[in-house]
Amino acid sequence: MRKQRLTRRESLLQCAALGSLRVAPWLGLTDAVSALEAQERDGTRKPTQWNEIGPFYKRLAPKNPKLREPNDPGLPITVRGSIFDTRGETLAGATIEVWQADHFGHYDLDGYRYRASLSSDAAGKYSFDSVMPGHYPARVCQHIHYLVTAPGHKPLITQLYFATDPVFEGDPDRNYSREPLVMSRELVRPVTLSGDPKAIHANVNFELVLGRL
Ligand SMILES: [Fe+2]
Repeated sequence: MRKQRLTRRESLLQCAALGSLRVAPWLGLTDAVSALEAQERDGTRKPTQWNEIGPFYKRLAPKNPKLREPNDPGLPITVRGSIFDTRGETLAGATIEVWQADHFGHYDLDGYRYRASLSSDAAGKYSFDSVMPGHYPARVCQHIHYLVTAPGHKPLITQLYFATDPVFEGDPDRNYSREPLVMSRELVRPVTLSGDPKAIHANVNFELVLGRL
């Protein structure tokens, strides 16, 4: 007898049971599956939350994804992600400008250290290598600034935050609003450590969604 096809919800729950779908603990499986179903139903994604540009942006940053130089102090970090439009389609050729403080919380205002202007590839992906930004007195949290532009889309100014920031005390779900500029939990991203104990390396994924003009 032919087996009845699973509903979308059942198939997602089956994926979760067998380990091919994983859900961050703070989301909860049923809530996350419901949200995913809703998103698939209407086929749209919300533009990424705006976050202010701050005083340290500089135009014409180098197109070099290696912001970190050998022996730079600080935890090495690789940030990867994709650029999407609100229909969930990836955007190739988007410009992703990033800038951040160094390990000690200093911005390079004379030159272009820890600044880059990148492009998303044919699959809409981008990545760069840097160090975990330091804290600095004017701001509560570690962060990396983003300005993302793509033809036919609204420019997006936002910031990436890190779930491991000591300010969140291990519970960004509860404590993300300790940073007054973080109005959306989605901007606080989980951190995955790799490498070996003598050369630990942080990895963060940050996907961005641009609204259409
Ligand atoms: Fe900043």
